[in-house]
Amino acid sequence: MIDNSIDPVRYPLAWNTSYARKGTQWRGGFDLTGYSEFLDLSGNVLELGSGDGNTAAAILPKCGNLVCADIAITSFKTLAMKGLNCLAADARMLPFKDDSYSAVFSRHVLTHAIPGDDALMLAEINRVLAPGGTVLIEVFSPGDMRFGKGTEIFPRTFLRDDGLVWRFYLGQDLDSLVRKAGLSVRHFQLMERKVRHEGQIYPRESIVMMATKN
Ligand SMILES: C[S@@+](CC[C@H](N)C(=O)[O-])C[C@H]1O[C@@H](n2cnc3c(N)ncnc32)[C@H](O)[C@@H]1O
Repeated sequence: MIDNSIDPVRYPLAWNTSYARKGTQWRGGFDLTGYSEFLDLSGNVLELGSGDGNTAAAILPKCGNLVCADIAITSFKTLAMKGLNCLAADARMLPFKDDSYSAVFSRHVLTHAIPGDDALMLAEINRVLAPGGTVLIEVFSPGDMRFGKGTEIFPRTFLRDDGLVWRFYLGQDLDSLVRKAGLSVRHFQLMERKVRHEGQIYPRESIVMMATKN
């Protein structure tokens, strides 16, 4: 059942407004240590939902040919995206040929999809990955400080006032979705950490998964 407070097709376009208003908004970068041995970055690499380049900037030096795809064209105007190979694309229906990427990064993108759309994105990732290719996925989980903000439109899925969807995954739900898409799970990691902001300590929690196309 689709919640009637959002347009089930156009809702990700709220990201266009978000980047137009805020510009660069993601921090923290990304450390490939411990993941790179699973990933063939020497050929075509796709960063799906590249946003303001937080991940792209970290992986670019290691990639043979990095393609950055995002539904929000305004994200390509942010500083870290300047000069990168960017393409406006919807992760639910990618404009790429089958088997065209040796590696895909999808960090905090499924997190912004309603149930059903995440399955579409995973099916597309499986389709565009070359056999033996690997995707690295990161999503938020319910222990994160952002959990519960907004209106709950599906279980553990919240619609914020700015129109953005935030979904928080249980490990078994993500595992099951990834397997249903036809991918083989090779790595599962619950990342728990604390951050300090204006004197307060807050919990961050996410799942990092790597899965391979057979
Ligand atoms: C939280 S940001 C993550 C950015 C980046 N991956 C990172 O690690 O910093 C989520 C990104 O996913 C993009 N996105 C959300 N839904 C999408 C969709 N259906 N197709 C393509 N991109 C999407 C948004 O525009 C946004 O840039």
